[in-house]
Amino acid sequence: MSNKVSIIGAGNVGSIVAYSLAMQGLAHEIVLVDRDKDRAKGKALDMSHAASAVRSHSIVRAAESYEDIKDSKVIVITAGFPRKPGMSREDLLFKNAEIIEEVVSKVKEVASNAILIMVSNPLDAMTYTALKVSGFPRERVIGMAGILDSARMAYFIYEKLGYGAGQIRASVIGGHGDFMVPLPRYSTVAGVPLSDLLSQKEIEEVVERTRHAGAEIVSYLKTGSAYFAPGKSTAIMVEAILKDSKQIFPCAVLLKGEYGVDGVVNGVPVMLGKDGAEKVIEVTLDPCEKEQFRKSTQAVKEMIDLLEKEFFKGRK
Ligand code: NAI
Ligand code: 2OP
Repeated sequence: MSNKVSIIGAGNVGSIVAYSLAMQGLAHEIVLVDRDKDRAKGKALDMSHAASAVRSHSIVRAAESYEDIKDSKVIVITAGFPRKPGMSREDLLFKNAEIIEEVVSKVKEVASNAILIMVSNPLDAMTYTALKVSGFPRERVIGMAGILDSARMAYFIYEKLGYGAGQIRASVIGGHGDFMVPLPRYSTVAGVPLSDLLSQKEIEEVVERTRHAGAEIVSYLKTGSAYFAPGKSTAIMVEAILKDSKQIFPCAVLLKGEYGVDGVVNGVPVMLGKDGAEKVIEVTLDPCEKEQFRKSTQAVKEMIDLLEKEFFKGRK
């Protein structure tokens, strides 16, 4: 099986995905594609040097054209704009949908059997866009957000406790946005339920901070958004697919009746393996969690409806 990985968008997130894979020697060949070819070339060369330093067999190279991504097992898509001041959510939605349409159309021509991991925002809507443009089955178009949001929640739990780092398992499902659904009931520290360790008020503070963690980082960085944790979270998904690990991670997939939802992308636990999102896992939710998941699905559906009405109309 090929373990070639291509990354479209060699910006902040794309670079960390590539670097992470190269340092682990997970892929024999990592191809960087960017509309700024020199950026891709400079980063590929730098990373290949780093791979040599750690005696990793991974080779990182920049694409001259989309032909170079041929035979990729996994293609990560991070091409897109972050939201800028004065730009509405809808502006970003349409601007990035255009980029995803352009990129995915080219990917489809040369790598029609690849598994796509979507990263560009708004994540759930861009995953839907990629599904629609590629025509790939839902197993092969998967969005990254849940691993990141869960990792953020785990870290905030650690901050509250002051112990347990590395032993915390937090769970976040739902869309990647204000309506994400952190699940304290399914979060543990070395197997101990969170409710035995933190008060309800402390848990609520963890949940709120998790929901706004991306914005918190933007407020410090000022010129961009987070990339270390997003990049690593994406690399974890690539690893599970390349190793056919059959591990369960929260990822964005098109729901087909699961959780009572049909035709909307949302974040849920899925089993990742060589064929992509091989199984969607249905977690039992209590009435309050169900309501949060419903709201989250509704928020994604509104974006999808807008895309269908304003973006895809006339393109079919
Ligand atoms: P960045 O600006 O550093 O990198 C984006 C790269 O895409 C740039 O190098 C740019 O030249 C390239 N690009 C733009 N249009 C292209 C095209 N048509 N073809 C090829 N390359 C193209 O941005 P960053 O920080 O890497 O973020 C990338 C995207 O990921 C953004 O939309 C951001 O909002 C999103 N993101 C999503 C996260 C998630 O949890 N799903 C987490 C972090 C970021
Ligand atoms: C984040 O959550 C911006 O989606 C990005 O950091």
